Amino acid sequence: MNILGIETSCDETSLSLIKDGEKILNQQTSSSLRYHRKYGGVVPEIASRMHLEVIGFLFEVLWKQSGLTPKDINLVAVTTGPGLLGSLLVGVCFAKAISYALDVSLVGVNHLHGHLYAVFLGEERKKIKFPFIGLVVSGGHTCLFYVRDFLEPYLLGSTLDDACGEVLDKVARVLNLGYPGGPIIERLARKGNPKGIHFNPIKTKNPLDFSFSGVKTAVLYYLKQRGYKIDSLSKSIKVPLGLIRDICASFQEVVFDSLIEKSLLACKLKKVDTVVVGGGVAINNRLREKFFISAKKEKIKVYFSPPQLCLDNASMIAGLGYILFKFGKRDSFTLKIHTD
Ligand code: KG4
Ligand code: ZN
Repeated sequence: MNILGIETSCDETSLSLIKDGEKILNQQTSSSLRYHRKYGGVVPEIASRMHLEVIGFLFEVLWKQSGLTPKDINLVAVTTGPGLLGSLLVGVCFAKAISYALDVSLVGVNHLHGHLYAVFLGEERKKIKFPFIGLVVSGGHTCLFYVRDFLEPYLLGSTLDDACGEVLDKVARVLNLGYPGGPIIERLARKGNPKGIHFNPIKTKNPLDFSFSGVKTAVLYYLKQRGYKIDSLSKSIKVPLGLIRDICASFQEVVFDSLIEKSLLACKLKKVDTVVVGGGVAINNRLREKFFISAKKEKIKVYFSPPQLCLDNASMIAGLGYILFKFGKRDSFTLKIHTD
C-alpha cells in the first residue's frame, strides 16, 4: 500500500511517499526558515505563502524521483494540527484535492503523535513495546504522552509557558547568536561548563507539566546583573565567548534535566519501562547522552527518532496515517484543522 503524506503545520513544506507505513520511497521537504531568520522566529503569513508557492512543485519532484505516478497512491495522510492556521490550511486543502481527484481515502493526522511515530521509522522499531511514555520536544511543543496505542495517546503534561525549542531559540536571540537557537546552543555548550552557572530548576504544580520561561528570565537577569545591556533584539550585546559557552552549557543542562526527570517520573507513575522521544530538540546529542545515562540507572529503555526525521517531515505523517487507516480511521472532505 502506497501512502502520500503531507505536512505543512509550520515552516516546512514536506511531501512523502511511504510503502506500508515503514519504507520511505521518497520525501521532498522545503523549509522557509531563511525568510524567518531576520525576525528571530517563524512569521505565520510568510510561512503560509511559501507553502502555497512550493507545494505543487514538490509534488512533481516526488513523482520524478520515486518513479511512481499519482495513480499508485492508495491513501492520503495529512497533518490537521496543532500548528499555524494558514499553514495547515494549505496542506489540508491540497490533501483533499488529491484525495478527490484520485478517489482514494483521506486520513487526518495529529502532528505531535506524528513526531512520536517518527521513532518507528528508525531501525529500532521492532524493539519498542507498548505502552510507552512519549516525549515530544519541538519548537512549538513540549508534551508527555502515555501511549497504549496510536489511536488515542493520552496527554499527561505539557509546557505551561514556552516550548523547549522555543526557549532555546529565545535565549539564543538574547545572546545574539542567530536562529534557530537549538543547534547553535548545542555547539557552543560543547566547550562550556554545564555546572558553571547555577540556574534554578523549574517547578510545576503538576509534576508532569513543564515550565521554561523562568530559566529564560534567569539568563536575562544573570546578564543584566553583570552590566550587559539587553535591547529588544540584542543586536549590540557583546558577551565574551567563554561566558557564552558556560551560559549555553548551564542553561541547556537545566532544561534537559527537566525533560529527563519528568519523563522518568511518568514511567514510574504509569508503571512502564520505555520512553520514545521525537521532535526537533531530539536531534541534540547532549540530550540523547544524558537521557541514556539516567534511564539506564532506572532500567528504562529510551528510543529516539532518527536524526533526519526529528524536524518536521511528511514521512512521519504518512507512516502514522497508515497505522490509523489500519485501525479503521477514514476522514471525509469536511476534515477540519486545529491550531492547538
Ligand atoms: O520539530 P520542529 O521542526 O518544529 C516544531 O514542530 O515546532 O523543531 C524545531 C525546533 C527549533 O526550536 C530548534 O531550535 C530545535 O528544534 N532544534 C534543536 C536542535 N536542532 C533543532 N534543539 C536543540 N538541539 C539541536 N541540535
Ligand atoms: Zn513539529
